Amino acid sequence: MKTLDNSDIISKNVIFRADLNVPVFNNKITDYSRIDTIIPSIKKLSKKKNKIFIVTHFGRPGGIVNEQLSVNFLSEELRKKFKMSKIHFLKTFNNEEIKKKQLEMRDGEVCLFENVRFYKEEESNKNYFSKELADNFEIYINDAFSASHRNHASITGITNFLPSYAGLSFSKEVENLDNFLENSKKPNMAIIGGSKVSTKIKVLENLVEIFDTLVIGGAMANTFLLSNNYNIGSSLVENDFIDLSREIQKKAESKNCKILLPIDVVCSKNLEDREVAKTYLINNIPNDQMILDIGKKSTKLISNEILKSKSVLWNGPLGAFEYSPFDKSTITVANIIQNFSNKSQLEALAGGGDTVSAIKKAEANEAFKYLSTSGGAFLEWLEGNKSPGFIALKKNNL
Ligand code: 3PG
Repeated sequence: MKTLDNSDIISKNVIFRADLNVPVFNNKITDYSRIDTIIPSIKKLSKKKNKIFIVTHFGRPGGIVNEQLSVNFLSEELRKKFKMSKIHFLKTFNNEEIKKKQLEMRDGEVCLFENVRFYKEEESNKNYFSKELADNFEIYINDAFSASHRNHASITGITNFLPSYAGLSFSKEVENLDNFLENSKKPNMAIIGGSKVSTKIKVLENLVEIFDTLVIGGAMANTFLLSNNYNIGSSLVENDFIDLSREIQKKAESKNCKILLPIDVVCSKNLEDREVAKTYLINNIPNDQMILDIGKKSTKLISNEILKSKSVLWNGPLGAFEYSPFDKSTITVANIIQNFSNKSQLEALAGGGDTVSAIKKAEANEAFKYLSTSGGAFLEWLEGNKSPGFIALKKNNL
């Protein structure tokens, strides 16, 4: 695979795939990691007088223009982060406009394209669209590992038309994930939270083979609790996955992987009702209550397990962490990992936008050997699947 790390790209028109699908809450970016992660590549390219055109998606507009999902607001954020006097912006991938912009731009400058998912051809990976993206450029760089599990035009299709390179953060991500999966010290544990079983069920099947302990938290644990016949009140659940949850628990038993599910939970009637949040044991949840975090007893169990482990992998918050007080268990676990990693050789790696923001909120980032900004891509890699974006870069011989 060609990498930016090992190449000298000088004075070229570069099309650069980033994943600037940053988390936004109340109109504010809540975590800048996905911007920070591309800074080294952008700086290297800019110093070498390349003209850099950034392509990103933002949200899921489904192939239609949706002003609410415009990425124009990111220009100013990029300008500050890249310490540049200006960031150009282009609303379309129209060839004439790109040519005009290239003439107008000075060496080392950056231009941001509008949300590439405003075009339906991006997700359907149409060849003519990939070609249109590639026209007028000499080099393609993918620094969007977190979006590279998508077989989209700006991730895979475009590599059919241009010499293609992995960006600096892309290479770093692959190196860290592979190293952890191949060499993580035993006993090891994985903590998997978040809201959807459907997106994580496959990875759980793989993780029970690799890890000695698997903690399941977040709304995902609800489906597991229901599969074990607990009443979970009005909590979020994915009924279609109840049988599979049982199968995973059986598989874990046969592989000697201990599954830890919550034994107590913090509930309220809904997210707005957080003033009256109460803790219940899982065999005692009233019908009108919704599980929004795991309780102290469950957190203690996780903490005991961390103390016994030599390596920990974490993806997905354990509760509705954006809403205090349902952030408590996630913050506590981040702090436990931090305290313990100071005292022992615990090796910790975490991935996923929400997980990384929670760890940053707990100011525990230094405890982690590596923080991945990838969510779905991280999980698919853990499932043992190399992403389409990675494969496309590897195959590229232009
Ligand atoms: C992510 O946030 O995980 C990536 O940006 C990919 O987004 P997607 O799930 O909408 O493809």
